[in-house]
Amino acid sequence: MAPKRRRGSVVSRVPVVRGWSRPRGGAANVTAPRPLGASPHRRFKDPSLQRSFALFRAFLHEQDDPEGCYSLLARDSVDQVEAYDGPVAGRTVVDVGGGSGYFTEEFRRRGAQAYLFEPDMGELGERPPDGAVVADGYLLPLRDGAADVTFSSNVLEHVADPQTFLSELARVTRPGGLVYVSFTNWLSPWGGHEWAPWHYLGAERARARYRRRTGRAAKHTLGENLFAVHIGATLRQVRARDDVEIVSARSRYWPFLAEGVVKAPGLREFATWNLLLILRRCPP
Ligand SMILES: C[S@@+](CC[C@H](N)C(=O)[O-])C[C@H]1O[C@@H](n2cnc3c(N)ncnc32)[C@H](O)[C@@H]1O
Repeated sequence: MAPKRRRGSVVSRVPVVRGWSRPRGGAANVTAPRPLGASPHRRFKDPSLQRSFALFRAFLHEQDDPEGCYSLLARDSVDQVEAYDGPVAGRTVVDVGGGSGYFTEEFRRRGAQAYLFEPDMGELGERPPDGAVVADGYLLPLRDGAADVTFSSNVLEHVADPQTFLSELARVTRPGGLVYVSFTNWLSPWGGHEWAPWHYLGAERARARYRRRTGRAAKHTLGENLFAVHIGATLRQVRARDDVEIVSARSRYWPFLAEGVVKAPGLREFATWNLLLILRRCPP
């Protein structure tokens, strides 16, 4: 779940139409680019034990320090984009299902023209990044090929039709551009989200247990806003596509064998934890 933010301002409600629609206040309000290499945060080698420990520690503190947790994850994710595609400075980046905007803000800090598209006002929070657009990832109000980089972190398992969602990401990415997609697969120890790892005993039982233990209804319901996405099936479907090619299929967080673990049928469904797909948009 993406935490609520404490800063930012304008939210645009844009009509869902084809054709470039620049988010209100978007580029004009972008944080001034910082020279590359001047980022104050410590960069971890990816993959490495140090990096995985740092991310794991941050996840453990997600509830009491969401800012620290999501800022680190955002920096790490943008590092990953840059590792595959070079500096994002000056590029157009589209963050689809970006929640309250940590990733968009990090892309902007590094000089990208980054735009947040998020369908849920509740996820955007009270103070999303300037120019955030309320829009569904199935039908983005963008012309074909508008983005150099299309970014979607942990959204695929929340949409009922992942392949149609991927088609839309590919459509708005320019030929040769990069698509970054990650998701927590169903059989991952974290696949049940707030009711994990009890999802291994069945979603309904896990939800009921969550309610008993916390006194609150769980945020996610299988088949409504959380879907059982599997690594093997997803890889087969993506390989069969002609609009993207796979640059890398790897575990997003693993400290070693990040690509190796994804090559082991069966094991990968449990051990990958979170699949990161780095895709390149093919020419039409
Ligand atoms: C687990 S949150 C991830 C937020 C953020 N990307 C992150 O990694 O922290 C899932 C997000 O997917 C968004 N989402 C769900 N269905 C969507 C859709 N059809 N199009 C775009 N975003 C969607 C939700 O509103 C939510 O913000």
